[in-house]
Amino acid sequence: MDLLKGKVALITGAARGIGRMIAVRFAQEGAGVAFTDLVRDEHMESLEKELTGLGVKNRGYVSDAGDFEATQEMVDGVVADFQTIDVLVNNAGITRDTLLMRMTEEMWDLVIRVNLKSVFNCTKAVQKYMLKAKTGSIINMSSVVGVNGNAGQANYAASKAGIIGFTKSVAREMGSRNVRCNAIAPGFIITDMTDRLPEQVREEWIKTIPLKRGGVPEDVANVALFLASDLSSYVTGQTIQVCGGMSG
Ligand code: NAI
Repeated sequence: MDLLKGKVALITGAARGIGRMIAVRFAQEGAGVAFTDLVRDEHMESLEKELTGLGVKNRGYVSDAGDFEATQEMVDGVVADFQTIDVLVNNAGITRDTLLMRMTEEMWDLVIRVNLKSVFNCTKAVQKYMLKAKTGSIINMSSVVGVNGNAGQANYAASKAGIIGFTKSVAREMGSRNVRCNAIAPGFIITDMTDRLPEQVREEWIKTIPLKRGGVPEDVANVALFLASDLSSYVTGQTIQVCGGMSG
């Protein structure tokens, strides 16, 4: 199928994990793919190769999504290279987990900057192009932790809950110009991020999931594909949980 044929997508933090799988899934459906990450390393280069193998125009950009000025420049560069941005996936994210008692100001500030301010930075930079084109789909990567909270993740949960409020507001602001904005709230997805958790914590999480398995990046990428494509043309301001039933 060619669900995204003729469209250009920009995905942040996509050299690895969920973002990478979204890039591949979008390319399989015919999208041109611009993606960012913090460094040009073997991950960025291998993704470029994989996307080229799928026959789509693509390019990796080194850009810190938390940096306002750098993000404006990166987005202008993507538009210069690809002419347009139809789909933005704000995916870049980090964790700095610990109980509030031990959480430092630096741990709080860094997580808010990379997870939440980045969504503002990138959406603001892309919006003028989408508003002018009178079309666009913005997809923000939240988390079930942003919906429900989680002990040891007050900074992360606050950033991910903030994303949901931002998403609902942007959907209301930009709906009249046919620009949609939705959030995905993944549950426990097996990537480098969750590999860092102790084995016992991972096993305990999986026990609480009705589908009795951790998610894989494809599970999230398929929902991102739906939100990016015209299949979701009447869906905006929503948060879709991709969590094997563990939340709500
Ligand atoms: P990951 O750690 O595997 O990949 C994240 C990527 O973002 C890395 O390539 C990293 O270099 C990049 N990145 C980090 N800071 C960046 C910055 N400032 N600018 C640009 N790129 C940056 O993480 P994963 O698991 O793929 O997560 C992707 C998104 O999904 C994140 O927003 C995360 O919070 C969210 N998520 C993940 C869940 C999981 O279980 N893995 C659950 C819920 C949400």
